[in-house]
Amino acid sequence: KTITWNPMMAEKGGYRHFMLKEIHEQPRAIADTIAGRINEDKDRVLLHDLNLSDDQLAQFDRLYIVACGTSWHAGLVGKFLIEKLARLSVEVDIASEFRYRQPLVNERTLTLVISQSGETADTLAALRESHERGGKVVAICNVVESSIARESDGVIYTHAGPEIGVASTKAFTTQLVALFLFALHLGRVRTMLSSEQLREQIQALLTLPRKLEQALELDEQIESVARQFMHASDFLYLGRGNQYPIALEGALKLKEISYIHAEGYPAGEMKHGPIALIDENLPVVVVVPKNDTYEKVVSNMEEVRARGGQIISISDCDSSDLHSASDAVFAVPTISDDLMPVITSVPLQLLSYHIAVFKGTDVDQPRNLAKSVTVE
Ligand code: G6P
Repeated sequence: KTITWNPMMAEKGGYRHFMLKEIHEQPRAIADTIAGRINEDKDRVLLHDLNLSDDQLAQFDRLYIVACGTSWHAGLVGKFLIEKLARLSVEVDIASEFRYRQPLVNERTLTLVISQSGETADTLAALRESHERGGKVVAICNVVESSIARESDGVIYTHAGPEIGVASTKAFTTQLVALFLFALHLGRVRTMLSSEQLREQIQALLTLPRKLEQALELDEQIESVARQFMHASDFLYLGRGNQYPIALEGALKLKEISYIHAEGYPAGEMKHGPIALIDENLPVVVVVPKNDTYEKVVSNMEEVRARGGQIISISDCDSSDLHSASDAVFAVPTISDDLMPVITSVPLQLLSYHIAVFKGTDVDQPRNLAKSVTVE
């Protein structure tokens, strides 16, 4: 048997697409994003490029998170993290909306902008809008010396490395990790977290790369489920709490690379509309980790089943009620609830990837999309 090998494949590290390579790079990318940011006693987060003293940080009474696309989804998870761990109220906005609505920014406002490329025109404009109104800006960014990184007061770099696939994967999960680090840091500064709580959170964080490796082992199972569902023309994604943004992101990934219509919805809202769509032709992807709302989400799944809908579930819970309510279960490893969104992202990325490959689309360069959108 001869092995075909070309320079392009070498660049892709032997993977068929950059997207798949980047999905598999996530344990490494996340380890790099954490590296150097935890003190020796493992009870403190160190953010060297934040350029804001603890006193300055403690003074903010309003926090906006502003971004576009996948980065906006990371921001939605960030709201859960910051409100829970630092007890500061957070508003999340889409950059192209934020700048035109006279945001309530003053010198006691911090705007956190999130951008993989650091060049998105709408996000850059939102950053400038915050500055003009006298606020401070911190960027979560993947590209060193990009426009957004340069113009912000401080930066938390995601060390994902270059992301080539247009559909964002490792940039997204490293953004989640950067947000987690920021939430822990702010929680300590605002005296909302004890050293003990910080230590526990950090311990969980340090297990994340290994857990992601385990989640990636689902690849083959996901490929075969993708084959089964590739002909559907619509998908519904459901999640609750910090998994609702992951449902949105799962739906976005499917739209972007497989051109299948997909909608993300908070599971509890299903009864207020999307339930009308459910029939045997609608696959429903449900993110349902074992947390406080688990039982509620399982009962949503039963409602879907009762109407003939097909269910793919993603969970760290291996219970019989889950299996009997699902056509397929992607069993992911367990971690603290605050970090679970990083884990559940992985099977959703792989599902959209494999469906796109089966459909024969241009996975790394989907039609009409650009990696970095520098026009408004
Ligand atoms: C484009 C890309 C998306 C990305 C969005 C924001 O639409 O196709 O993948 O999420 O821009 O990009 P940014 O670089 O600001 O994170």
